[in-house]
Formats: sequence, structure tokens, C-alpha cells
Amino acid sequence: MSAEIQLVGVVGCGLMGAGIAEVSARAGHDVVVVESSDAAAAAGRSRLEQSLARAEAKGKIDSAATVLERIRVVTDLEGLAERDLVIEAIVEDESAKTELFARLDAIVTSPEAILASNTSSIPIMKLGVVTARPTQVIGVHFFNPVPVLPLVELVPSLLTSSETTARARAFVETSLGKQAIDSQDRAGFVVNALLVPFVLSAIRMLESGFATAEDIDRGLVLGAAHPQGPLALADLIGLDTTKAVAESLYEEFKEPLYAAPPLLNRMVDAGLLGRKTGRGFYTY
Ligand code: NAI
Repeated sequence: MSAEIQLVGVVGCGLMGAGIAEVSARAGHDVVVVESSDAAAAAGRSRLEQSLARAEAKGKIDSAATVLERIRVVTDLEGLAERDLVIEAIVEDESAKTELFARLDAIVTSPEAILASNTSSIPIMKLGVVTARPTQVIGVHFFNPVPVLPLVELVPSLLTSSETTARARAFVETSLGKQAIDSQDRAGFVVNALLVPFVLSAIRMLESGFATAEDIDRGLVLGAAHPQGPLALADLIGLDTTKAVAESLYEEFKEPLYAAPPLLNRMVDAGLLGRKTGRGFYTY
């Protein structure tokens, strides 16, 4: 197996990209994060600062400042040229991601570099085939909040080499201390293929007037020992991301259980995206 991954790149510094940058820097890696504008970079940087300050206050890290020193948030993809591993965490939009992977393929020069995606639902093959190195493209799917949840799904496409999978596994397990499960390259992978239809069913239940949001969530928390109910979970994931993941699953399997309910579509149209905008099924 070739050299260990040292230099990490992340594209997107939203909910997930910031989390991935944080856990990588906490593990000692030098991290470059690319955002799409100066304003988004500033927001991403402050997201990182707040999360690291919380980790320091809870005694989980010695010094937020030391970890922050390992992270640069920039707006130019060229900053990723020499990275060993680039993890894409931009919006869940297939054309945005394929366009980005084609650009990354041209920019990331190291011949052994791995191009990974944190996509929740877009088949990895679609990203691999727009590059000249599909053997080095893999899904590395973290869970939200990244600093807290231990799981990472590893998703090689039919063209991903076993060496790429082994290097990605060593990075997430040995370096980051996460736990990996393997999934075939199907929309939704393992966890979202099971979780998203469950969340969509809860939205349909609310939409039909069957029960209130509070009672649906309390039902699952108190009766099934879930840490939070499905509607609170949708607010945490982001309703735009939930809708995008449902659409990818529906596109792949054509099963009604994956179809986004009208209430979800209307809430996204209205900009009620959950915690990140202050209002979704609940107000924050
Ligand atoms: P988000 O909306 O919080 O962040 C996306 C970020 O990407 C934004 O800051 C945006 O400015 C930036 N961005 C968009 N296009 C860009 C480009 N071309 N170059 C650089 N930056 C760009 O979204 P979130 O929730 O972080 O999701 C990101 C990815 O992670 C999606 O593929 C999503 O499916 C996946 N994911 C999301 C989870 C969740 O719970 N929200 C869980 C696991 C995976």
C-alpha cells in the first residue's frame, strides 16, 4: 500500500465539511478547506471556531487554537493541488458534484491522491467516471455531527481499486479513530436507504394529520429508544438535504416509499430548512 494520507483537502465548509475538517485536524492532519465565496469561507471558519471552542470547553481537546492552526479555509480550488486525499462535501446536487470532480481531477496533481465524496445518496460511479482516475474515487460518508458520531460508510464503485479502499479505511479507522462499514454503490448506501424512508413516513404521518410533530417524535424517543424523533432528525439533517437524498433514492429505485412528500417540498420552497435556518418542523 502506498504512502499514508497526510495532507487533507475538503471542499465545502457547511455542516459536514466543517465537521470533516475538524476531525481531520484534531487527528493531526494539515487541512485545506475550499468554499465557494469569501462570505461562505468566513461562515465556515466561524463554524469551525465555535465547534472547536465547545470541544475545548468540554475538555475533549487541549487547545482549539492549535487545531485551528492546522486548518486553512480558502476560496480557490488550486489550494488542493498537493493534497493526498480530497473529500468533497458540497451541496447534494449531482451536476454540481460531477462538475467539481472533473475540476478536481485536473487540479489535484499527486498521482496517488484519492478523490472522495461525502455524498449521502449519489452513486459514486457517477463521480468516478468524470475523472481520468476512477480507481481512486471512493465514497467516504460521515454522519452528522461528524465530531460525535463514530460511523463512516466506505463506498467503492465498481471501478475503485482495492488499494484506494484500503487507504481510505486506514485514514478513517486508524487516523481518525472512526468505525467503518462497507456498502455497495447504491443510492443511499446502507444507513440512508433505511433511515430516509422512515423520516419520509413520519413527514407523511404529520401531513395527513395523523399525529402532531411532537407526538410522532415523542413516540419514537419514548417507545423505541431513539435518541431523537424522525422530524427532529430531519431538522438536524436539513430539509433541503433530506429532499435531495429522497430524490436520489427515488431516481435509483423508483419506489413510492422514497418519494419526497409534498409537505417536505413546500417547506424547502419556503426556505424552512430546519435548524440551519432556525425553522423546520420546530422553531430554533
Ligand atoms: P451544507 O449546505 O451545510 O454545506 C454545503 C457547503 O458547500 C456550503 O457551505 C456551500 O457554500 C458549499 N459549496 C457549494 N458548492 C460549492 C463549490 N462548488 N465549491 C466549494 N464549496 C461549495 O450541506 P451539508 O449538510 O454539509 O451537506 C454536504 C454534503 O454532505 C452533501 O452531499 C450531503 O448529502 C452530505 N451529507 C449531509 C449530512 C447531513 O446530515 N446534513 C450527513 C452526511 C452527508
